[in-house]
Amino acid sequence: MIKRNFLVTALALGLTAASGLTQAQDNAFKIGLILPMSGPFASTGKQLESAARLYVAQNGEMVAGKKVVIIVKDDNGSPEVTKRIAQELVVNDKVQVLAGFGLTPLAMATAPVATQSKTPMVVMAAATSVVTEASPFIVRTSFTVPQVVVTLADWATKNNIKRVVSLVTDYAPGIDSEKYFNQRFLANGGVVVETLRVPLRNPDFAPFLQRVKDAKPDALFTFVPAGVGVALMKQFSDRGLDKAGIRLIAEGSVTDDDIINGMGDVALGVVSTHHYSASHKSPINQKFVEAFGKANNGARPNFMAVGAYDGMRVIYEAAKATKGQGGEPLLNAMKGQIFESPRGPIYIDAQTRDVVQNIYIRKVERVNGQLWNQEFETVTDVKDIGKTR
Ligand code: PHB
Repeated sequence: MIKRNFLVTALALGLTAASGLTQAQDNAFKIGLILPMSGPFASTGKQLESAARLYVAQNGEMVAGKKVVIIVKDDNGSPEVTKRIAQELVVNDKVQVLAGFGLTPLAMATAPVATQSKTPMVVMAAATSVVTEASPFIVRTSFTVPQVVVTLADWATKNNIKRVVSLVTDYAPGIDSEKYFNQRFLANGGVVVETLRVPLRNPDFAPFLQRVKDAKPDALFTFVPAGVGVALMKQFSDRGLDKAGIRLIAEGSVTDDDIINGMGDVALGVVSTHHYSASHKSPINQKFVEAFGKANNGARPNFMAVGAYDGMRVIYEAAKATKGQGGEPLLNAMKGQIFESPRGPIYIDAQTRDVVQNIYIRKVERVNGQLWNQEFETVTDVKDIGKTR
């Protein structure tokens, strides 16, 4: 009798423990956030994580009756590591969403994992056009480089810039920048005097900038990924290119809001195009910038932060719509979302799963002692031109 009772109790306990476990799993909505938290692109990881956490703090830890669990993993900016981590997150942690992806090669390496496991993959940073085509499970909330640089090429032509040299980081988004800027600038009747590419790792800009100086173009068009612009600007000034009358025009990552204050006067007057500026004038953005600063020792959010903040919005709303179900239903609920972001109005094109948004032309100005990208012209509802190639 005693023995039997023991067995019954043990069984009951076992069952309770097991169902408790399933319940805990069922009641978690897990997001695997893979980011470069160390290495040369750690500033990108920090911006993305801070903004994702801000979204959760503002919108609650519960979504569709489940507790949101963000699992942050550092990939050090290395594609093999990103892919391995993604596999572990899918198989061991059973995440409903893979998110983050600070650089294009990291997103490209992970795309097959999303496809094979049918896990929605929200690209919050990487910006090469082709990324969304790497998996039907990818949705992008950042931007595309072609979307941005074509507007800059048009601005340059209208502003009497006739000869340019292009200088880009030698990897996918740099090559996209070079291709789409130069193509458009040539079609507008301009001349591209020289095309230069600098390595992604430990770039030394000095010899390249000397070649630019010797070529004497009206302007240097440039792209470097977020966080790298300070070194470029310093060399630009050290080599006296500004004094030689060469203008600098840039894809907006160069005058990244995170680091622009460290650039000094050489950045003044630099014209760039991008989808987000911390100085964007809207009540939603003002609140976003204030809240981000408050939660991060006064730091300014950059375009990486807004990609993560909006990515979390897309995930939350999709989870609500599918009542916490993952896989294809969750992916489908991400498509076609339309909302006002701190950057302005955006939507996720249901066909391409890419972001359609305003592109702003900005100029660096000093306001109340600080450097800002001040928006002065807007091109509305820009799609990724790379998709029409
Ligand atoms: C990218 O790797 O796609 C990338 C990274 C940083 C940027 C822009 C593009 O600022």
